[in-house]
Amino acid sequence: MKAVSILSVIGIVGLVQNYAQAAVPTAIFHGFGDTCIFPGMWEFTDTIANLTGAYAHCVEIGYGSVTSILENFETQAESACKSVQENPNFQGEFNVLGLSQGGLIARHIAERCVVKGKVRNLVTVGGPNMGVSATPNCFEGYFCNILNFIVKNLVYFSQIQDLVGPAGYFRDPNHLEEYLDYSVFLPFVNGEKKGNNTEAVFEKFSTLNSALFIMFSEDTMIYPKETAWFWQLQADGTVLPVNQTSFYKNDLIGLRALDEAGKTQYVEFEGNHLQFTNEQIRDVIAPVLLK
Ligand SMILES: *[C@@H]1O[C@H](CO)[C@@H](O)[C@H](O)[C@H]1NC(C)=O
Ligand SMILES: *[C@@H]1O[C@H](CO)[C@@H](O)[C@H](O)[C@H]1NC(C)=O
Ligand SMILES: *[C@@H]1O[C@H](CO)[C@@H](O)[C@H](O)[C@H]1NC(C)=O
Repeated sequence: MKAVSILSVIGIVGLVQNYAQAAVPTAIFHGFGDTCIFPGMWEFTDTIANLTGAYAHCVEIGYGSVTSILENFETQAESACKSVQENPNFQGEFNVLGLSQGGLIARHIAERCVVKGKVRNLVTVGGPNMGVSATPNCFEGYFCNILNFIVKNLVYFSQIQDLVGPAGYFRDPNHLEEYLDYSVFLPFVNGEKKGNNTEAVFEKFSTLNSALFIMFSEDTMIYPKETAWFWQLQADGTVLPVNQTSFYKNDLIGLRALDEAGKTQYVEFEGNHLQFTNEQIRDVIAPVLLK
């Protein structure tokens, strides 16, 4: 009699565990100049749905590619948040996964968007998590130096912040004061500045179930490439590992707490920006979405 009741208790615990481990839906955010209806995004979303055995949805932001380039980044993030709030599949626990600048949108959802349920796992693939500090594909050389000079001197004007999406995550170590004063997006999602819905950032981020940050070894789209791992470009041109930054030491968003809980993975993929294979999706990305 006793044995039976113990068995049934074990059975119930098993059921509860199985239930807890059932995959949750995944919200996917595309990158700069992309849109959910491009074949690449459509196929990627389908692949994630197949591998997790759960609903996966590419959340469109405004009009897709044009919006991702030509709209204030904070506005893009808020519009993504609204779409997530309105989607009946994202009312409980769900994952967020972002490609390139979509990684920052994914973090906005995990950290600042007020949702009914909770973000469970976070994946950023080639995400400019600590911002970018040069124009894509143009890091050095005569022409690029001129272009970067112009960009660095105009980027924090409010018209540019309003008109050019990526300006919202441009972080120039030589103009940190302007960045903190005028950047419309990154200082908030990185906990450097308080704003709308930033009170709960630490609580939300540090209690994620799992997070994966993927960097590309030959990335020519985001500079420095290590921004994907939250490493920080310094005024002298060196790149500081995340655990030596004040962002990490003061644990502005809870990344350190999540690290110390053993819930983060920092992975490098060989190749240029977003050059990943189906095997990498299956073996590296999908398992995190199933945690
Ligand atoms: C997802 O699975 C369905 C059904 O098995 C299949 O038809 C489809 O091709 C798969 N999609 C991808 C992108 O692998
Ligand atoms: C704060 O939220 C309000 C209402 O949603 C919005 O109008 C405003 O632009 C937001 N401000 C910032 C700095 O995000
Ligand atoms: C910082 O991280 C590096 C790996 O990127 C590691 O080798 C080093 O021990 C860490 N330092 C501290 C102080 O945790």
